[in-house]
Amino acid sequence: MAIVAPSFLAANFLQLQQAVDMVNQSNAEWLHIDVMDGMFVPNISFGMPVLQALRSATTKVCDVHLMIEQPERYINDFKQAGADVITVHIEASRHLHRTLQQIKSMGCKAGVALNPHTPVSQIQEVLHMADLVLIMSVNPGFGGQKFIPESIQKVAQLQQLKQTHQYQYLIEVDGGVTLDNAPLLVQSGCDVLVAGSSIFNASNPTAVIDKMYAL
Ligand code: DX5
Ligand code: ZN
Repeated sequence: MAIVAPSFLAANFLQLQQAVDMVNQSNAEWLHIDVMDGMFVPNISFGMPVLQALRSATTKVCDVHLMIEQPERYINDFKQAGADVITVHIEASRHLHRTLQQIKSMGCKAGVALNPHTPVSQIQEVLHMADLVLIMSVNPGFGGQKFIPESIQKVAQLQQLKQTHQYQYLIEVDGGVTLDNAPLLVQSGCDVLVAGSSIFNASNPTAVIDKMYAL
């Protein structure tokens, strides 16, 4: 069984309260919050004030995915705004080891994210200290894209490394996750399924969440 993390990027921004209520009433344990800066990715989403508002409206784990350049500049702000998990991209963070230490020293869980082109080997030296590894299964920046099937190999690889070395990280998959590809992801070792459009665009979002939990 994997944790389900609905991605807020796919919510109707005119009805955020309704979206939070849906997540609160659902069995989802995490809420995934995508922060984009228009530099690391070609899109701008939302930042600290929106996280702060969500934090005050939910007791779910706030899983903050920073798609921003030099994320170390904003770790403290996101912690203050209510993040429980903070994930940074290796491609955006020159001193990744230090950044992960920084996140952990603030009492948050530290995650590292890999773009589709980045091999798992690039984060080998920080796997022992990561609380979470996020595999991007689309190119980051937009919701509603098609799942890249090769991502499944990375999940299996991370699962193997985890078993061999007794690492503690959770394996999270983000992008294009649906009820069609989720079963294979879970079988391959995925611990956290992030899903935006497949949940928020469904006629019965909580039923989709339940089906993902039932895998
Ligand atoms: C993409 C984001 C994802 C996105 C997922 O850059 O990191 O979290 O919201 O949305 P779907 O599930 O629609 O691909
Ligand atoms: Zn994300």
